[in-house]
Amino acid sequence: MFTPDELTHLKQHVNHYPEPRAGAIYCLYAVQDKVGHINDKGIEIVTELTGLSKTQQEELISFYTLLRRRPIGRNVLRICDSISCHVMGSKAILDAAIKQTGVPIGEISKDGSVTVLPSICLGLCNKAPAALLNEMDEVENLNVHSINEYLNKLSEKPHDLNNKGSGSNIIATSGRENNS
Ligand code: FES
Repeated sequence: MFTPDELTHLKQHVNHYPEPRAGAIYCLYAVQDKVGHINDKGIEIVTELTGLSKTQQEELISFYTLLRRRPIGRNVLRICDSISCHVMGSKAILDAAIKQTGVPIGEISKDGSVTVLPSICLGLCNKAPAALLNEMDEVENLNVHSINEYLNKLSEKPHDLNNKGSGSNIIATSGRENNS
């Protein structure tokens, strides 16, 4: 999975900490950026690097929203279902998304373009119902019609999420820091 240089970098990163386990999140992100999600092989590598057991890593992954154990679509759309968005109709938006993608929430749409997830408050309550695309782009004032249009556009959109933050990006960025 990792090249020898990448592994060396991860070992150096982990060794910066008094406790190797402190570097676990960084290593898990590196696996995710490399593979697209955190696979079993990645878990094994992180165990070797940090000493964290598989169970301890599963706990970390389930706690941190941005870490994922399963493959995702080319995009991730988080639709808020917290109170303001709920009051403004987020359930209908989520139901429309399920219908449009043809799969349950959390699964990859049939065309591979998107994984739709529910989300806690995104801080966009004044624009409810709201969503966030790829942890970056705000989608505001949704309704059943606009979510369908939005998902249609994603179907036509080229590969997106996995072009951001590739494993080489994490490692290359840190490598530059180390060399400075
Ligand atoms: S409740 Fe949905 S963005 Fe805050």
